[in-house]
Amino acid sequence: MARLYLSPPDLGHREAELIAEAIASNWITTLGPQNDAFERELASVTGVEHGVALASGTAALHLALVVLGIGRGDEVACASFTFAASANAIVYTGATPFFVDADSATWTIDVELLDRALAGRREAGARVRAVLAVDLYGQCCDYGALQDVCDRHGVVLIQDAAESLGSTYCGAPAGGQGALAAFSFNGNKIITTSGGGMLVSANPDWVEHARKLATQAREPVAHYEHVEIGFNYRMSNVLAALGRAQLESLPERVATRRRIRDRYAELLDVPGIDFMAEALYGTTNAWLTCVVVDPDEFGADRETIRLALEAEDIESRPLWKPMHLQPVFAGYEAFGGDVSGGLFERGLALPSGTAMTDEDQDRVVAGMLASRRS
Ligand SMILES: Cc1ncc(COP(=O)(O)O)c(C=O)c1O
Repeated sequence: MARLYLSPPDLGHREAELIAEAIASNWITTLGPQNDAFERELASVTGVEHGVALASGTAALHLALVVLGIGRGDEVACASFTFAASANAIVYTGATPFFVDADSATWTIDVELLDRALAGRREAGARVRAVLAVDLYGQCCDYGALQDVCDRHGVVLIQDAAESLGSTYCGAPAGGQGALAAFSFNGNKIITTSGGGMLVSANPDWVEHARKLATQAREPVAHYEHVEIGFNYRMSNVLAALGRAQLESLPERVATRRRIRDRYAELLDVPGIDFMAEALYGTTNAWLTCVVVDPDEFGADRETIRLALEAEDIESRPLWKPMHLQPVFAGYEAFGGDVSGGLFERGLALPSGTAMTDEDQDRVVAGMLASRRS
């Protein structure tokens, strides 16, 4: 039987068609009609007017911070429960991150704790410039409350929407909640460009500045003139073609991931397995189905389940190890940590790819149930 992956790419003939179009047009570097169209089409899906296609979601986060002028001497609040890329981007700028724990209901940044953390850092004399809030496994943060706190403390809200394309917050597509938002089209995401990302914002100046910075900060003159430090961060026109094809089926992809999650919930309606709850304020794209295991009630702990699945050639993965527990970020301040620490210890992400069949899913469920102590 073939190995079952967590979230592999799901490609069709449309991808091949548009890539062939890109090649036939001879636009194969980081500028071209596919790039322009991908930016326009993503804007129409997310309702965020301006966007620049980039080499990765990490590049998008980095440029979001750079265009805000964040750097050495500044601090940025960051969700602790996230992938390291969120925190890495802060460190790239020379700024200092501090970490804030997750809310136990939504798993996204705890807004009350953030409020106290921002007050605490200000009292300590820190220059806090922004909050990097992360939409987790498809679930949007509580943006209404988050924006209030950011406004009160005079800091900019940056949305790490790497995992939430196709989700909604209060009826609006994910990506328009932060002053700037970063999407990822990494190979395991709901749509992929193999590797890639997009920085979006309602503010055209920020996006145009990011576009310039991403193109080695070249000044608009015939020769190569530079007045600021740039990056080579643009997306290839060939990969933008892949993204356009994938984006066309985003609604079906979201529906499939949600159906997979709901079917897991039906089949695993057993003591000791809890599913990530969907916040009342939005809908999630259910990027990865996540469960939390109570070993006493279920009869096996998270790691026993993971290893049992691995023995059946099924990939599953512990939830994000929070940043405050990562050796590389040990020197940075953290507020709270028990919620994300507990989710890391007991949480598991299950295979959730859009191409998986009911039979594949039955294999996962059977493997999980068989891992219990008899
Ligand atoms: C929450 C989060 N932020 C940032 C990233 C970075 O995106 P990329 O891999 O496209 O650089 C990812 C995924 O990889 C992610 O899950």
